Amino acid sequence: MAKNIDWESLGFDYTALDYRYVARWKDGQWGKGELITDPTVHISECAGVLQYGQAAFEGLKAYTTKDGRIVTFRPDLNAERMIDSANRLVMPPVSKEMFIEAVDAVVKANKEYVPPYGTGATLYIRPYIYGCGPVIGVAPAPEYEFRMIAMPVGRYFKAGVKPVAVKISDYDRAAPMGTGMIKASLNYAMSLYPGMKAHEEGYAENIYLDPKTRTKIEEAGGMNVIFITKDGTLVTPKSNSILPSVTRRSLEVVARDILGMKVEHREVTLEEVPQFEECGLCGTAAVIAPVGKINNHGEEICFPCGMEKAGPVLQKLYDTLTGIQMGTVEAPEGWIHEIEC
Ligand code: PLP
Ligand code: COI
Repeated sequence: MAKNIDWESLGFDYTALDYRYVARWKDGQWGKGELITDPTVHISECAGVLQYGQAAFEGLKAYTTKDGRIVTFRPDLNAERMIDSANRLVMPPVSKEMFIEAVDAVVKANKEYVPPYGTGATLYIRPYIYGCGPVIGVAPAPEYEFRMIAMPVGRYFKAGVKPVAVKISDYDRAAPMGTGMIKASLNYAMSLYPGMKAHEEGYAENIYLDPKTRTKIEEAGGMNVIFITKDGTLVTPKSNSILPSVTRRSLEVVARDILGMKVEHREVTLEEVPQFEECGLCGTAAVIAPVGKINNHGEEICFPCGMEKAGPVLQKLYDTLTGIQMGTVEAPEGWIHEIEC
């Protein structure tokens, strides 16, 4: 039975649930993970994560389907991305099996917090890995922790389903050959200052440009950017410093294979943005947030949808993707992972 929570009014906030998962890497191997009740972390004062930011994370959700099952969406892709993040930051990767077992265990242990179908809320799952052993010379930490917490969440942006306003940032998110393509915590620390500035000016998010030429669209601080052309093609920016979003990669398949749309994954210049019919930000937390306008250094790029509701193509993509996640639209093979609760 789900807890008696006002699911509809949830925002995107931390709550400590009853159980979290923790496993430790020591002496060259991962120990057996366990569920614990203590929400506090106890680590060395000289931990790699505290001194040199050696940490990475993931984000995925559990859903209650229309017929009452509890499922996750493509957790294998989050597991794979966390392996890439760990390798790039010289942390011991967690195997796909261990990752998915931990997700299942955390959801099962906190099953009363998985929001019921139809409430618009979901259970957000946050896996993370960090150097917990002491280092003082710049080097990988000698010990690591892999943790996973979960919490029920509602909409990521306060605007709800309404389109958001975003701005083109003068700051850079990721360097070429840097860490943009992995989910390193350091990528988010660097986005706090430009993010705060954007919020102060009334924008929901920043869109970053490619740092080398400052002419191409990269992505937002916590979401990929997607566009729809006037003839209904889905266009997604391509760059090796963009995080490979599970949502964006899934939308490309949904658009092509289910909705029969044309899909282009290619470089997108800032100059061509005003010609697009629709624009959105996509990710696990935000799903698809329609963009009503983009401020490019004082010049406003306004999309035809305006600031009241999503454009028709993004709305269709949103409905189909969330339908797959909630079990009302048939899912492509292997996308839905059921958890026996
Ligand atoms: N881009 C960034 C920088 C992100 O932090 C996220 C969130 O995970 C995404 C894109 C969206 O990725 P996904 O769809 O896998 O959640
Ligand atoms: C997600 O969509 O899961 C994210 O991680 C985005 C943001 C909360 C950092």
